[in-house]
Amino acid sequence: MLELFRNPKNLGKIKDADASATAGSLACGDMITIYLKVDEKTEKIIEASFESYGCAANIAASSILTELIKEKYLQEAWKISWKQVSDELGGLPSIKLHCGILAVGALRRAIRAYYKNRERPEWLPEELTPEERQALEEEELMNILGKKMRAVSTKPSEKEV
Ligand code: FES
Repeated sequence: MLELFRNPKNLGKIKDADASATAGSLACGDMITIYLKVDEKTEKIIEASFESYGCAANIAASSILTELIKEKYLQEAWKISWKQVSDELGGLPSIKLHCGILAVGALRRAIRAYYKNRERPEWLPEELTPEERQALEEEELMNILGKKMRAVSTKPSEKEV
């Protein structure tokens, strides 16, 4: 895992990506963006990359995940679980499991984004999966954090009471 953190694979933006999604975790405030380049005819992922504003485990998980999905059909990539990502990394410690969940959630949101203006395939559920729900969209995350910040700043301080 440390090696992937020091020398992550597929780091950076794909400028002409066919789909991307930025997702964040409320638990830690970390964020990740996944970019996908997809062959329209075969629905195979021809390129995948990520940008991470997260911890070492998140970077390693995103790196291994983008390696795992290369040359995979979107349907196959959809099925990759955070457990698989954790196993590939030699087992994430329990306090770092959400880092893998965040990476998988961001990937699933990117796949969902790919089908936003296309016909939804049968294998893509209408409802968000738990991983997608945990990996909040950037705006959702900002809204929640913003509300929390406002709540904190409007609370009377101990000095004022
Ligand atoms: Fe937040 Fe790892 S601690 S993604």
